[in-house]
Amino acid sequence: MPLNIRKVLVCDAVDKSCVELLEQHGIKVTYKLKLPVEELCQEVKNFDAAIVRSDTKITAEVLAAGSGSLKVVGRAGAGVDNIDVPAATAQNVVVLNTPGGNSISACELTCILIGSLARPVVPAGQSMKEGRWDRKLYAGTELYGKTLAVLGLGRIGREVAIRMKTWGMRIIGYDPITTEAEAKAAGIEKMTLEEIWPLADYITVHTPLIPATRNLISAETLAKCKQGVKVVNVARGGIIDEQAVLDGLESGKVAGAAFDVYPEEPPKSAVTKALISHPKVVATPHLGASTSEAQVRVAVEVAEQFIALNGTSPKYTS
Ligand code: NAD
Ligand code: MLT
Repeated sequence: MPLNIRKVLVCDAVDKSCVELLEQHGIKVTYKLKLPVEELCQEVKNFDAAIVRSDTKITAEVLAAGSGSLKVVGRAGAGVDNIDVPAATAQNVVVLNTPGGNSISACELTCILIGSLARPVVPAGQSMKEGRWDRKLYAGTELYGKTLAVLGLGRIGREVAIRMKTWGMRIIGYDPITTEAEAKAAGIEKMTLEEIWPLADYITVHTPLIPATRNLISAETLAKCKQGVKVVNVARGGIIDEQAVLDGLESGKVAGAAFDVYPEEPPKSAVTKALISHPKVVATPHLGASTSEAQVRVAVEVAEQFIALNGTSPKYTS
């Protein structure tokens, strides 16, 4: 049955193409960004639907406040960790997302971070800005011939594998669901985690954050890795244990790490801050999906789903 969504609250910075498409279909859109939770609870009472990226948390409290009006929560992005899905389901609120729209952007950032761990372009560039010319200090290593472990062989993991293979890396990977044939098609040798740890020069994680993946990379698993392993997390904070990486960087077990995501965003804990400040760490502020192309794609995809829920199909007039 069509949902009759007429009024939508946009809570995070979603591309204007979403608004244009919704308004072309008679849906009124209101932008109210970064609302404190009390105000958000007041506002949701006046809307049929809300659209978020990752900043706004649609908690059970917010959903309860919107009960009777809120029918849909749309996530312009992949992960729905900032939406209390069980609470939404209990209230018959539809939760939808746009899982593929930013995969290429997240994949490309991952590849750039892997590259920046091999060649210290970030500190070398900073040293130039400070007027120095330190050629010896910023020598690197080749990626060619090194082994990259991809943990999580879904949309992003496979795209990373395809690209890094063309750089001459050996790609090994683990995923409990992806078949060996699917992995092979992306140039990945599927293995068990126990087989992977001692072989990997680089490990990149591309799983959701679920109980089985929390601290997938930990002190225990790092102990099984090569001396000087490098790790990358463009998936979700908490998949890699930050304290274990800090300890590994201090002992030399870990030679470098790159993070785009953190257990708390913006980061507040002393451990995350120490990690970000570490000279062997490259850190970005959750930029995986932050490209103009990905933002248009996810904005249009979320709007199209709203229009479909109203029982119409999207027409494009601009
Ligand atoms: P996906 O669902 O396509 O792939 C995830 C894969 O992880 C699946 O193949 C699944 O089988 C696998 N998996 C599940 N449990 C596992 C386990 N215990 N060990 C190994 N693999 C396991 O997801 P995706 O679109 O590729 O996204 C991957 C991650 O990247 C998600 O956490 C997503 O939220 C995140 N993401 C981050 C950004 C960013 O801006 N940094 C952007 C997009 C997506
Ligand atoms: C996602 O899950 O899509 C990403 O984390 C990107 C975003 O926050 O928009």
